[in-house]
Amino acid sequence: MAMMTASSSLLAILAGVFVGALALVLVANEIGGRAGLPPPGRLLLAGGLGFGVFAFAIKAILIVEIGSMGRDDLAPTPRPRATAHATAADEAWPARARVSPFWSTWQALPATPPEPAGNRSTAAKIALGKRLFEDRDLSADRTVACASCHGLAGGGDDGRAVSLGVGNQAGGRNAPSVVDAAWLSRLFWDGRAGSLEEQAKGPLLNPVEMAMPSGEAVVARIAEKPGYEEMFAEAFGPGRAIDFDGVAKAIAAFERTLVSRDAPYDRFVSGEDGALGPAALRGMALFEEIGCRSCHIDPTFSAAGRDKPFGVYRPFPVFADDGLLARHRLDEERRAAWRVPSLRNVALTAPYMHNGAVESLEEAVRLMAVLQLGLKLSNDPALRMAVTPGPVEDGNRRSLTAGRRRALGDDDIADLVAFLESLTGWPAAALAAK
Ligand code: HEC
Ligand code: HEC
Repeated sequence: MAMMTASSSLLAILAGVFVGALALVLVANEIGGRAGLPPPGRLLLAGGLGFGVFAFAIKAILIVEIGSMGRDDLAPTPRPRATAHATAADEAWPARARVSPFWSTWQALPATPPEPAGNRSTAAKIALGKRLFEDRDLSADRTVACASCHGLAGGGDDGRAVSLGVGNQAGGRNAPSVVDAAWLSRLFWDGRAGSLEEQAKGPLLNPVEMAMPSGEAVVARIAEKPGYEEMFAEAFGPGRAIDFDGVAKAIAAFERTLVSRDAPYDRFVSGEDGALGPAALRGMALFEEIGCRSCHIDPTFSAAGRDKPFGVYRPFPVFADDGLLARHRLDEERRAAWRVPSLRNVALTAPYMHNGAVESLEEAVRLMAVLQLGLKLSNDPALRMAVTPGPVEDGNRRSLTAGRRRALGDDDIADLVAFLESLTGWPAAALAAK
């Protein structure tokens, strides 16, 4: 869908360029004729004008392409504070509002995540969703619930490299946290789901996760248990039969309550100076300086926050280091691009990466520095800061030099980790009290 809109706008631009070129030849002919230029001169003039138009067209195409990268048919919502107005279409999100491109000041998480117009949260819906989330009867052999792989007492994941579903079958990917998933416009490592509602149906029917044969089978399981019928009526209105869509909607509504609160980072950017210690502060500066923040964009520290203009996918690895990739078996599943995962509560969700093969946060950060930013790892000061004579002089012919970081030392990695630890806002105090 996103590709289609992108290529149709591309076609429109190309057609425009063609018509424009034709017009240019006519204009050049006219001007050239008045200036008394011979036909070859007129053509040259047309060519000269054309180059300008062509360059402009290329810029326009680039802007359109970048703008639509990874965008989905569900238009992302603006920041939650602005979501009060609902749109007509049942599942539609409120109109897009572009705010906070990544170069703006650091952002704290807003208080409540956005919700689609077709699934407004209510206490009854959330209560139903919580029960469904924890119900093992929703799996083929009645042993696995959502909560089995997304433990809310921990980081919202399962602490395993790859998850175990019914019959202890191992899947191929690491379970990301459900905590703060509500902020993301694309879900799963490869971004294949566009909403929590859409996502929730996946694991129920996935043969290695909960392995239910069909949505109807899920509904039948629920209908046989006492209490659900009343809870459905309360959540969706009297007379509404239990249905698979409702199951997904209730679970999604519950997931929208699973959000970080008061992470030290959020408190710091909201004005509490003492919320971050020196190491975390150095790490925060480094996170920006070396470019982590261009992919892990605050406040979600993903690129899949809802209002980010540059698309949710990024290449991984950018700088292929075959030895390093093989060591962590990251060469086994090569995709051109992955959805940038959120780093919220990342200190709680080891092991890391899509295959869960990276055990510590330190190692994950080292991998990112090398594979995504092309940096080296070294404690050698000469290597760490490559000093190149800059064009700026101090007036005494001494060149003021611009340093550029080429390598990260162990203390840099520790600072980055300290910063990532400041993104822990779970278990949220309010929830823990319940
Ligand atoms: C057997 C373990 C398992 C079960 C059970 C399970 N999940 Fe997951 N969950 C995973 C794994 C693994 C992924 C990542 C899969 C992928 O990206 O391909 C995932 C991804 C997700 C995500 C996306 C998070 C993100 O950042 O993209 C959400 C949300 C989620 N699960 C919610 C649920 C819900 C709701 C249920 C119950 C209906 C559920 N899960 C049941 C293992 C599980
Ligand atoms: C070019 C974009 C890009 C840059 C730059 C980048 N990352 Fe990542 N990051 C990703 C992607 C994509 C993944 C998912 C990789 C995968 O497939 O497992 C990821 C994964 C991670 C993870 C693992 C998350 C998890 O839950 O498993 C951590 C931690 C992380 N990045 C931290 C950083 C840090 C720190 C920096 C700066 C040193 C950084 N990243 C720079 C794109 C980027």
